[in-house]
Amino acid sequence: MCGIVGYIGSAGKTVNVLVEGLRRLEYRGYDSSGIAILENGHAKVLKSEGKLDNLLKKLSLTSFNGSLGIGHTRWATHGIASERNAHPHVSGGTAVVHNGIIENYQELKDELKKKGYVFNSDTDTEVISHLIEDFLKKGSSFEESVRGTFKLIEGSYAVAIVSEREPDKIIGVRRFSPLILALGENENFIASDIPAVLPYSRKIIFLEDGDVAILERDRFRITDLNGHEVKREIFSINWDPVAVEKGGYKHFMLKEIHEQPHAVLDTIRGRVSEEKGDVYFEDLENVVNGIKRIVAIGCGTSYHSCLVGRYIIENISKVPVELDFASEIRYREPIIDEGTLAIAVSQSGETADTSEALLEMKKRGARTLAITNVPKSKISRESDAVIYTYAGPEIGVASTKAFTTQLIVFYLLSIYLGRYTGRVSDQEGRRFIRDAFRMPQLLEMALKLDQEIKELAMEFYHYRNFLYLGRGINYPIALEGALKLKEVSYIHAEGYAAGEMKHGPIALVDESMPVVIVAPRDGIVYKKILSNLQEIRARRGKVILITSGEEAHELNGQIDRLIKIPDCAYMLSPIIAVVPLQLFAYYIAVYKGTDVDQPRNLAKVVTVE
Ligand code: AGP
Repeated sequence: MCGIVGYIGSAGKTVNVLVEGLRRLEYRGYDSSGIAILENGHAKVLKSEGKLDNLLKKLSLTSFNGSLGIGHTRWATHGIASERNAHPHVSGGTAVVHNGIIENYQELKDELKKKGYVFNSDTDTEVISHLIEDFLKKGSSFEESVRGTFKLIEGSYAVAIVSEREPDKIIGVRRFSPLILALGENENFIASDIPAVLPYSRKIIFLEDGDVAILERDRFRITDLNGHEVKREIFSINWDPVAVEKGGYKHFMLKEIHEQPHAVLDTIRGRVSEEKGDVYFEDLENVVNGIKRIVAIGCGTSYHSCLVGRYIIENISKVPVELDFASEIRYREPIIDEGTLAIAVSQSGETADTSEALLEMKKRGARTLAITNVPKSKISRESDAVIYTYAGPEIGVASTKAFTTQLIVFYLLSIYLGRYTGRVSDQEGRRFIRDAFRMPQLLEMALKLDQEIKELAMEFYHYRNFLYLGRGINYPIALEGALKLKEVSYIHAEGYAAGEMKHGPIALVDESMPVVIVAPRDGIVYKKILSNLQEIRARRGKVILITSGEEAHELNGQIDRLIKIPDCAYMLSPIIAVVPLQLFAYYIAVYKGTDVDQPRNLAKVVTVE
């Protein structure tokens, strides 16, 4: 969850690379930050509680002139957010930044204390710097000390380390938490995530579990924990560095909401033949061949896309789909066999709960498929096949464009499965693909609601509770709308299946409870939702209705606000219906003055269980 960046190259560049890298990684964690730079062989450390700007203020009063350094932005696990607990942690002349959790830190700490080491923080990370120092004191080289240390450590980690003993190296080690190298000319980089280094290099190496990377200015080596060299492929990443900037928008969240037409188009393009009515995915045939059922898992927004995915796949390709929270499925006895296709959905591809659940299903015999946005991420590497969403980097902590691209992937996958099993005819295939290609334009139309939603948010931002209702394929959109509002505005919001309202939540409804109803027009579900509307009105609840269709205006007078979204194929309606809800959450947060892109207590990549 924390962000790591390290640089070795020219002295004039170090501070800038670290600060800019941390700025791009702030979405991973942001309760404190720090840097360590080796200057004339000495580790100079600067740390600060709170957002990166606090560190920058301190930096402006100091001068640094070293050609290598490491930086960190923290999301607290062990020990409160404070300067004392901020990374880097230093012992002797060794400075360490860490992302992950050390499970056996207490026993290691007790041992180290017995040896006389003094702990200056409440973090688990500090055991790393002391252990390395302990090995160094015994005469081991920097590399040997790092390897020796990580043989003792249990848990998850991505770390970057510098040491006064060998001030021409950065060493990185990973297990379960992401860590990459980026290669340049007479300079090299290490980071927890691609955006940190994108302006400087596109040549990326994704470290694997157990890898130890030794970076020097003009070379690098990777070994395992026993010192044996390992080879890792160098990938060329074609993400646009401008994509990780705000590009004129006030927040990444708003920019990413507005990028959805492109993101959806990029995710469809190159994978379909409109003429044949076919969908193509690389290496998918062996994975889907003979499957009897699908089990889909994810967390948060990615779980909501699994919920929509179930409707689409069962409807179009007639394959039964079961689903669960990735954090729950391991704690029951799911029925998994060789006939099961396990689908793990994760924007980051690094979510610990999802990765662990996927591995568990693999162990039980399932074939595995990842739907993710990040190339070569952990979950994509652990799966038998991957379908990438081409949303581009998503920086705002609240997931928006990753979600809609996940939905379009589920739609394409269902056509693929339907064609593969013969349940979808050529003609149907062609129609489904035509409908998919209409989505970018319909999304553009939905985004024109921006101003209207902004005004709506102005009217409603002072309410303290919201209820979101949806039914059928848009029930998950009610959940997603409520989640978005909670995340960025800190307002309590509940998402419910509309039919469940009368079984409990209706007790909450009064004039202080706005109810957002998501009901694009179809046949049956729409009419049923209208009865909910009457029930809410009868209890003086305020109703905001998101619907489509020409007849929508007939409802004026019966509701407080009507938001009309463009009509589209019903299976694709969640992609459109979610847009006003994303904008609504965004503008409410802006009016409330919260930190939209980096909401309190949240992190973009959740690498702890
Ligand atoms: C979405 O707005 C949230 N920030 C969160 O629920 C997120 O979707 C969840 O943590 C899963 O992340 P992933 O898609 O990267 O696995």
